[in-house]
Amino acid sequence: MKGKFITLEGIEGSGKSTNLESIKSVLDQKKIEYVITREPGGGPLGSHLRKLLLDKEHSISPSVEMLLMMADRKDHVDNLINPNLNKGICVISDRYLDSTIAYQGGGRQLDADLINSLSVTLKLPTPDLTLLFDLPVDVALQRAAERSELDRFEREPKDFHSRIRDSYLELASNNHRIKTVDSSKDTKLVSKQVEKYLSEFLNA
Ligand code: TMP
Repeated sequence: MKGKFITLEGIEGSGKSTNLESIKSVLDQKKIEYVITREPGGGPLGSHLRKLLLDKEHSISPSVEMLLMMADRKDHVDNLINPNLNKGICVISDRYLDSTIAYQGGGRQLDADLINSLSVTLKLPTPDLTLLFDLPVDVALQRAAERSELDRFEREPKDFHSRIRDSYLELASNNHRIKTVDSSKDTKLVSKQVEKYLSEFLNA
């Protein structure tokens, strides 16, 4: 049987990565084998592409940015995601295709149909479950600023991040696989929501 493909999504500072621990503990309790990975940067070419994409010194046009994200993803899918899913191993990816729809489609205002048709052409698998970490943009940006030096995306104005949040919420309202976690809540309550969605999905 194929492994389950689970993705984590959200705007900057939404707490995706922090909640990996809750996810790992549910999978460990259920003795499910898994790998944890991320985008951009999860495939063999990933560390180069990630550096290029996040470096604040680079100016990259929206369509080149989108194509680099898709190239990084294809490399990731072919070399890590599909081989593990085919061995029955669960893959957890911190960001995936919904990030391109939200950031390059919503944030950079590129045509979402172009992104979707490229994903079909590249035969990118659809996640089985996506956890969307959602909170108001102001709160999220404040958290991101306290965390570390801002990268190329984090430096964008508030409008850019608001469009990304709106795209994510629209995706969630149209796709049953996407479960929205209210990450403005206290960290314990956020972990509880994550554990609930994950357990419901694994028990289904
Ligand atoms: P991270 O900091 O959550 O690891 O994500 C890296 C940045 O890359 C983040 O600002 C979101 C951005 N990104 C896109 O713009 N499009 C994409 O397809 C992906 C995967 C990430």
